[in-house]
Amino acid sequence: MKIAIGADHGGYPLNEHIIAILGDAGHELLDFGTHDAARTDDDYPDYAVQVGEAVRARAAECGIIICGSGVGASVAANKLRGVRAALCGDTYSAHQSREHDDCNVLCLGARVVGVEVATEIVRAFVGARFNGEARHQRRLDKVLDIERRETTTPDAA
Ligand code: RB5
Repeated sequence: MKIAIGADHGGYPLNEHIIAILGDAGHELLDFGTHDAARTDDDYPDYAVQVGEAVRARAAECGIIICGSGVGASVAANKLRGVRAALCGDTYSAHQSREHDDCNVLCLGARVVGVEVATEIVRAFVGARFNGEARHQRRLDKVLDIERRETTTPDAA
């Protein structure tokens, strides 16, 4: 599977580990960095946009964004139309976010989860698929309606 990945300085070096384990598992990575531990002027929204746009354009099947807490990455990524980003700290949320919510981006907090837990979360997310059950599709359609409404309705003056 083709997977887009990006991390700011807060997500480094967890991104290097995730890139390695996904590569070992045979996945193709679209890697937006960072690979520079010394940089503190790199901002998580820039990585969120790069990964989110790659997923939205179907250049990657799913994406992973890592920052310090994962919070900024998920807030930024969820601003992109067509992106459903899940901030996960456990494996249940990781696979359910795909199976029920059809999330296409995983966000991780490198300062919050340990390397082994992060590895299992990534495997759970990447290995899961939207199950398409009617109740989940109905809920997803409602989420997509919100997105359409938000992008087409002008704010009240
Ligand atoms: C960067 O220092 C840090 O604020 C960022 O990686 C992230 O945790 C934001 O949510």
